Amino acid sequence: MTPQKILVTGGAGFIGSHTVVALAEAGYEPVIVDDFSNSEPSILDGLKAILNREVRSYHIDCNDRAAMTDVFSQEQVAGIIHFAASKAVGESVEKPLKYYRNNLDTLMLLLELMPQFGVQNLVFSSSCTVYGQPEHLPVTEETPRLPAMSPYGNTKAICEDIIRDCVAANMPVRAISLRYFNPIGAHPSALIGELPRGVPANLVPYLLQVASGQRASLTVHGNDYNTPDGTAIRDYIHVMDLADAHVSAVRLLVEKKETAFYDVFNIGTGRGASVLELINTFEEVNGIKLPYHLGDRRPGDIEQIYADVTKSTRGLGFTTKRTLADALQDAWRWQQKIS
Ligand SMILES: NC(=O)c1ccc[n+]([C@@H]2O[C@H](COP(=O)([O-])OP(=O)(O)OC[C@H]3O[C@@H](n4cnc5c(N)ncnc54)[C@H](O)[C@@H]3O)[C@@H](O)[C@H]2O)c1
Repeated sequence: MTPQKILVTGGAGFIGSHTVVALAEAGYEPVIVDDFSNSEPSILDGLKAILNREVRSYHIDCNDRAAMTDVFSQEQVAGIIHFAASKAVGESVEKPLKYYRNNLDTLMLLLELMPQFGVQNLVFSSSCTVYGQPEHLPVTEETPRLPAMSPYGNTKAICEDIIRDCVAANMPVRAISLRYFNPIGAHPSALIGELPRGVPANLVPYLLQVASGQRASLTVHGNDYNTPDGTAIRDYIHVMDLADAHVSAVRLLVEKKETAFYDVFNIGTGRGASVLELINTFEEVNGIKLPYHLGDRRPGDIEQIYADVTKSTRGLGFTTKRTLADALQDAWRWQQKIS
């Protein structure tokens, strides 16, 4: 049987590239569309080395209607996973229009092209940022979304609403938004991983640069939070587990009989880890001492969040397999390769 093709926008990016591996290993044929605005073509070499074959890929901007129309007509895909987006929270505050333009337009163009080419299935990259600082933990999908704290976060909420409204209007679209918690780690081969640009805003990419000597010391932002050790808590998920969640979502969609369908799932481990726990785990599993110091809270950071994964376990049949230690070992292996 010919494998079903899945269009992966942003497929050269951090989560996209790992999902390409998971899709290929699950018997799908991934087709990448990426403009390399936040990734490197060398990731395609890494994918080839892991999969022992070239992955089909198009170097184009997902906002380019003519180029995207060509891709749709050449590739007859069974579904789309839409990763392509601008994702730097801080930059989104400075350049909101870049974020609204890129993140909303790419989605709307896909939703316009899908019915024209009979493509029904869409998985959308959303984020736990839509919950803000929730009142009750863990957060379920029923937890109310709070007003976004950045234009980036707002694009995720608006994109979810756009998809919901299209499905409510009975467009022939079956869609799932996956609300990711905190993806970290890399493929265990160290052939693909995250390529942060500039000063990393996220804990693990920054920590890795400290561990490799590129930066002097790690600042722990806030140790007076209302958490057991005073530092902020997040739900860190291995990027290969997150990749597997996309395969589960694609499977669910392609098997659906409904012509219009929409649902939302949390994708996390269900367990929170504090900044200090993460640092200690990194030091233990990699045998490295990390220079760090305690600093002030960072404006805009929330105290703690972790996922209730009951719905994704039942609805997608998805559970995580890898530990925080696995993720930090794999991330370090990758960092050593790129340093
Ligand atoms: N990494 C996280 O912590 C996280 C958390 C929640 C949600 N997300 C979402 O998941 C998705 C993937 O995130 P990531 O961490 O892999 O980011 P990433 O920047 O590594 O990957 C995004 C990819 O999309 C490409 N891209 C961006 N705009 C494009 C366009 N107009 N046309 C073609 N390609 C384009 C970039 O070059 C990049 O390769 C994003 O939508 C992001 O908002 C990420």
